[in-house]
Amino acid sequence: MADAERAKRLRESQGEERKIDWRKRKQGRKEEKKKWKEIKLLRKLEKKRMQELVEKQNEEEAKGKEARGRHYTVSVALPGSILNNAQSPELRTYLAGQIARACSIFCVDEIVVFDEQGEDSKSVEGEFTGIGKKGQACVQLARILQYLECPQYLRKSFFPKHKDLQFAGLLNPLDSPHHVRIDEESEYREGVVVDRPTRPGRGSFVNCGMRKEVQIDKQLEAGLRVTVRLDKQQNPESRTQKGIVVASHHPRTVSGLYWGYTVRLASCLSAVFAECPFKEGYDLSVGTSEHGAHVDQAAIPSFSHALVVFGGLQGLEAGVDTDPNLEVTDPSVLFDLYLNTCPGQGSRTIRTEEAILISLSTLRPKIDEAVKEASGR
Ligand SMILES: C[S@@+](CC[C@H](N)C(=O)[O-])C[C@H]1O[C@@H](n2cnc3c(N)ncnc32)[C@H](O)[C@@H]1O
Repeated sequence: MADAERAKRLRESQGEERKIDWRKRKQGRKEEKKKWKEIKLLRKLEKKRMQELVEKQNEEEAKGKEARGRHYTVSVALPGSILNNAQSPELRTYLAGQIARACSIFCVDEIVVFDEQGEDSKSVEGEFTGIGKKGQACVQLARILQYLECPQYLRKSFFPKHKDLQFAGLLNPLDSPHHVRIDEESEYREGVVVDRPTRPGRGSFVNCGMRKEVQIDKQLEAGLRVTVRLDKQQNPESRTQKGIVVASHHPRTVSGLYWGYTVRLASCLSAVFAECPFKEGYDLSVGTSEHGAHVDQAAIPSFSHALVVFGGLQGLEAGVDTDPNLEVTDPSVLFDLYLNTCPGQGSRTIRTEEAILISLSTLRPKIDEAVKEASGR
């Protein structure tokens, strides 16, 4: 073969090799690209999976919180006149304490003290003028109930010396979850805004009954009672704790904690209903009487805001008779259910303070059942 021919073939074969080499490299690049694409896709899938996982966790956490929260309320109404049956100022005070404890034991959210004698007391500003003196029973009962509900470390701020509270030292404490001890850990605490200047843009200081004050997220007026949710992470070196102000129902509706009761005065029985603090009103009302229907045969329907009403010495009839807004004489017509909660009683009369304990303990499992059904649990 001529040299020229050999050189041409060599060139051709070298060209061929280069082509193959180039193709191989191209193929290699393609495979690498494919691999990268796969890695990218895998990463994308992993990211999506993680996102879904976080979303699911958040959802479950929210659901858990919702499941922890209690959205229904129970209110109790009773006439203030029951204090007038007590034989001494000490016993009068003790009777109020019994009502407070019975209501806390059964996680009552609101106590309404109504006037069944037409005294028309609307606030706790009045003075107690002595046992048996008409006019002050509702006010005194409401004041003692409020005093006992208030955590001990806040009482100095909210309850100046008052004759109505002269024997309050005799009273058994409520010992409810919002009466948190100084070193006890608690998600929430009740506090009072202290009168101390804060730097601009910083929140007020609150006395929450702890060794350190709590700096909250807002500037609020000194002397205000607030519910504080303490931050989970606290700096132990800091001179203050950190927290945020929440609505007073937060511990109940978000965390399912019993957080004490509010106290309301009503000028007559009908005002108990008419001045209901819930905009939807009470959707379940229960009247109590020895003349009511046998409690064992009663079923409680699902509800959001229940009200259980008790009478005084003369029963609920007295409240109906003196009420200027009511034309009925039979109290049973005012309620969804009118119940005898202690059928076959062995004493001729059950006192109101006893009836509260008896009725709330008989109604408790029925209430539980009703709210379980409503929440589909
Ligand atoms: C001293 S009792 C009133 C008794 C009065 N003779 C009457 O006719 O109802 C005071 C209150 O306790 C409650 N009470 C007393 N016995 C009850 C019973 N067996 N079942 C439900 N509530 C009762 C009622 O709210 C009543 O108004």
